[in-house]
Order: sequence, then structure tokens, then C-alpha cells
Amino acid sequence: MTAKTALVVVSHHRADSLTTHIGDVLADRLKEAGYAVDLLDLRAEGFDPRMTVEDQPDWDDRDKAYSPETQAHMARIVDADLIVPVFPVYWNSVPALLKGWIDRVWNYGFSYGRSKPRLAGKRMLWIGTAGAAEGDEYWTSLRDLLDRTLRDGISYYNGITDAAVEVLPDAEGEPQIVDADGNFTKGEALTGEQRTAHYAAIDRLAVEHLEKFLG
Ligand SMILES: Cc1cc2nc3c(=O)[nH]c(=O)nc-3n(C[C@H](O)[C@H](O)[C@H](O)COP(=O)(O)O)c2cc1C
Repeated sequence: MTAKTALVVVSHHRADSLTTHIGDVLADRLKEAGYAVDLLDLRAEGFDPRMTVEDQPDWDDRDKAYSPETQAHMARIVDADLIVPVFPVYWNSVPALLKGWIDRVWNYGFSYGRSKPRLAGKRMLWIGTAGAAEGDEYWTSLRDLLDRTLRDGISYYNGITDAAVEVLPDAEGEPQIVDADGNFTKGEALTGEQRTAHYAAIDRLAVEHLEKFLG
């Protein structure tokens, strides 16, 4: 039996970011679980998130030939059984780099706009890192917004019914809390062993979410 393939889509402008690190942690865990991993680091591969005329949908032609770059990305999605976008939460959503990958690649006639969805049967786990703390007043609405936009608005719309969104809180090295009155408080920056333990806990949480999703 051939191994299942996981496409891990890392979306961050810095190679030394927490997001990039979590992408590596998840890729390692997926390999341990027997997956062949295709690690797509959008920054490292120089992906340009800006929409182009070539990749803009033509509503009269669902078989439009999109740009070679976009077609190559489509092929990587087709080859994957599981798709895992890893990203920092920006303004209750995904950063422009990942948004542009969705805009250009998850395109009309490819992933949606056909009576029989081509991506049906695939699984998708969105993993975001967030500055917000889990006890934050805003945590529940953040989870809700991301779930509606990503799982419902993107995965489901593109025929992927088995999808989940998980958020890793406290992704900053210093706690940030917004209370019910909207007051923003920034705590002391973590250092030394405390900092190491804080980031190890985030790694563990990411792996727990993955293992739960893999079942
Ligand atoms: C432009 C921008 C927007 C952000 N918006 C949010 C937000 O809406 N909610 C939140 O919890 N954190 C927000 N953050 C904090 C990031 O999620 C956090 O810095 C990131 O997850 C840390 O991981 P990284 O080191 O990989 O960037 C934002 C950060 C930036 C730079």
C-alpha cells in the first residue's frame, strides 16, 4: 500500500518564526505516523500571493488554463490526502501570503464549480498561532470567526467536508490579554526556562491537535 501524502503549507515571512517551527514539528509527526510529507513553505518557494489576470477565474470557462505556477500548486493539492495549512492569525484571519495561495490556487473549475467536487474525500487541518490567550474574552469569537471562514467558507466550499481549525494561543513570548472592556495588557516577556517551557507546551499542543485529528 502506498503511503498517504500530507501537504503541509507553511505561511510565514520569517524562517525563524514560531509558525515555521510548528510546520516542521507537524511534518515530523506526520512522517512518524507514516505519511509522505510535501512541505510547502510559501516564503521559501517565493510564492507571490497577488492575484493575476492569468489566474483570475473566467466564469464562462471552468477549464481555463491557469498559470504554470498555479497548476503546479494544484497538482500538489491533488496528490495530497491531507492538507495542513500552518499560519499566524492576522486580524482574525490568515496572513496575505496564505490568503493569496487560496485566491490563486483554489480556483474555479479546479476546486469548486463542478457538480462532482474534485477535492472530495481529502482532509484538512488548519493550524493557526495566535497572540491571544485562551482565557481572553475574545478567544471564543476568534475561534468562531476562524471556523466559519476557514472550515466552512473555504474547506467545505471546496468539497472538503472533513476539516478542522485549531488555534495555538499565547504564541507571543509575552502574555497579551484583552479584557471585557477592551483593555489591552501586555505581561512581562518570558525568559530562560520559563520561555523554553512555554514554547515546548505550544509544540505539544500542536501535536495533540494533529493526533486528535488523525484519530
Ligand atoms: C499584522 C498582525 C495581525 C495580528 N492579528 C492578530 C489577531 O487578530 N489575533 C491574535 O490573537 N493575534 C494576532 N496577531 C499576533 C500573531 O498571531 C502572533 O504574533 C503570531 O501568531 C506569532 O507567531 P509567529 O512568531 O510565527 O509570527 C497579529 C500579528 C500581526 C503582526
